Amino acid sequence: MNHVLVIGSLNMDFDVYTSHRPEPGETVMGKSMKMVPGGKGANQAYALARMNVKTAMIGAVGDDPFGQMLIHNLQTAGVDTSSIRLSSQETGKAFIEIDEQGQNYITVIAGANHDLDETLLLDHLDLFEQADAIVMQLEIPLPIVCQAAKLCRQKGKLLILDPAPAVKDLPTDLFPLVDIAKPNETELSILTGMPTNTREEIVSAAKKLHAMGVKNVMVTLGGKGTLLVQDSGIREFPAYPVKAVDTTAAGDCFLASFLSQFDGQDFSAAIDFGAKAAAIAVTRPGAQSSIPSYEEVCRFSPQSR
Ligand code: RIB
Repeated sequence: MNHVLVIGSLNMDFDVYTSHRPEPGETVMGKSMKMVPGGKGANQAYALARMNVKTAMIGAVGDDPFGQMLIHNLQTAGVDTSSIRLSSQETGKAFIEIDEQGQNYITVIAGANHDLDETLLLDHLDLFEQADAIVMQLEIPLPIVCQAAKLCRQKGKLLILDPAPAVKDLPTDLFPLVDIAKPNETELSILTGMPTNTREEIVSAAKKLHAMGVKNVMVTLGGKGTLLVQDSGIREFPAYPVKAVDTTAAGDCFLASFLSQFDGQDFSAAIDFGAKAAAIAVTRPGAQSSIPSYEEVCRFSPQSR
């Protein structure tokens, strides 16, 4: 894709690295703490721009120092931030614990991310026109996601939905508007109400999401790769084994890198490129700070790690 519009969230991430996640009532001594630009929407926009895709973002931050830092970081990658609203609410924040396996546990305070409305979409219809594809997640108000999805269909654009954080009972008329959904196993389970503990269960749940109307269901399985369910059948793609230090934003990096190479037809090469980018991202701390450049992904080889 040459030109992508991301409609989504921007958060300042507060990352705490610990040996393990505290049990209820337990106090754990953290190893270190970092403040890093994040937010699923902003991470995806940042990664798209790093992959040389012309990228614009619709979103909202507070009129505060965190908001300025988030906008500035997107600009350094080349994202068009002119349609990011300065809200009277505080910039969104995410509190992230990362354990020794690199696993992350995220709590988001939406703040300004919930200050998106129809006007902001209608004021930027030109961005819908210019884009080849539109990417959304679920950290912004659901009615805006649904409305943007309808606009996307009216304008004949490809819609990619990262259904995160997943919510039960999404409006059923949203699914047939989605060209590609990228849930992980947990999100897939929430969306479909089905278990996803085994490969068979994941396949059944992905088939259900496909039957609900999503054209292409691309389930990310971390170190186990990616499962793709389409009309033409089921395919599996491997991940690249690496030692993860922080998996935050790996899914965002995968999605954006995949899309940067996707021509609307060939999933295989684009998924492989996404898997390489994600394999690099998990070896680095933080959200946007972990996202590689296009050249780094091209240079990646399994032996180079
Ligand atoms: O996908 C990772 C992101 O989720 C973090 O950057 C955090 O801000 C939350 O939105």
